[in-house]
Amino acid sequence: MTTVAVLGVGRVGSAVARTALRAGFDVRVAGSGPAEDIALIAEIVIPGAVAMTTADAVRDADIVIVAVPLHKHHSVDPAPLAGKVVIDAMNWWTPVDGESEEFEHDDTRTSEVVAQHFIGARLVKTLNHIGYHDLEEHGVDVGAPGRRALAVASDDEDAARLVATMIDRFGFDAVYAGPLRAGRAFGPGTHIFNSILTAGELEAALPAHEVAL
Ligand SMILES: NC(=O)c1ccc[n+]([C@@H]2O[C@H](COP(=O)([O-])OP(=O)(O)OC[C@H]3O[C@@H](n4cnc5c(N)ncnc54)[C@H](OP(=O)(O)O)[C@@H]3O)[C@@H](O)[C@H]2O)c1
Repeated sequence: MTTVAVLGVGRVGSAVARTALRAGFDVRVAGSGPAEDIALIAEIVIPGAVAMTTADAVRDADIVIVAVPLHKHHSVDPAPLAGKVVIDAMNWWTPVDGESEEFEHDDTRTSEVVAQHFIGARLVKTLNHIGYHDLEEHGVDVGAPGRRALAVASDDEDAARLVATMIDRFGFDAVYAGPLRAGRAFGPGTHIFNSILTAGELEAALPAHEVAL
């Protein structure tokens, strides 16, 4: 696994892209428009990442990370993501996303709604429960005492396993939480959301924890 594509070059997308570059990945980034629109910002904020259109960025990517505001996920064309391992790093955040018919009754089931848009993608929920600063600052070598852990939920265990490898290279332990619906356990408002937990602590906090990857 060598290549990741990050869709959305905001706070989270930039931090994910820089973390991936440091971990040795080839990194492609895409915004909502043509590659030229983000080429300069990518060069300054994410040196080493290559700005592309979404279709070009995901074409050879082993993992695609969607880091756009959740209310804009419909604006990401699902066609090029079909068959790809796709990380949903998004949360419903009312101050940013506003009110929504789709989410207002249960804002913890967002990945299941996102999965209905990204038909055919091998969707994995993770990276949503760590602040973008922390992602860049908390990563440490494997085996370091107190290494922070991140939860991974997916209906596709092979996809979850691939993402766990990437998370390990980012400097974190990965804990498989179970199928996509288990992502509810680490959404906004939960104990796990934004908490600094080791793998053991995270396993204990996950009600649907199933198997170690
Ligand atoms: N803040 C955190 O610490 C944190 C942590 C984990 C997860 N999250 C979640 O991550 C998501 C992104 O948050 P953020 O804070 O990074 O938001 P942000 O700073 O507002 O950045 C979002 C980016 O997405 C781009 N975008 C919008 N539509 C797009 C599309 N169709 N294709 C590609 N790019 C598109 C926007 O660029 P344009 O100008 O082109 O629209 C913008 O650069 C949210 O769902 C948030 O809840 C946040």
